[in-house]
Amino acid sequence: MPKIIYVDPDGTRHVVDAPDGTSLMQAAVANGVEGVLGECGGSAMCATCHVYVDPADGGRLPELGADEDEMLDSTASPRTTASRLSCQLTASEDLDGLVVRLPEEQI
Ligand code: FES
Repeated sequence: MPKIIYVDPDGTRHVVDAPDGTSLMQAAVANGVEGVLGECGGSAMCATCHVYVDPADGGRLPELGADEDEMLDSTASPRTTASRLSCQLTASEDLDGLVVRLPEEQI
């Protein structure tokens, strides 16, 4: 099962087993990672699952979709080139060991 590493703004790391096919938002919420809210349930309509993925890992991720791109303009913390919506990222062995950093604020 792939492991995803969520890093709080203060550097605290949460290593989560994310079942294949689960979104990184769902895996975070199910494991009590408080920095991810996921208020819309994963429909790319709330931006409360905003995370930062090191651009060096960007090649492991799917392309940014139009809905995700638009919603990333509504994040509570600044959007950067590393910004993604974790509900739009699906766990798989390709993402094993991925580090995602959590923003200061989600709302
Ligand atoms: S959970 Fe709402 S945009 Fe991701």
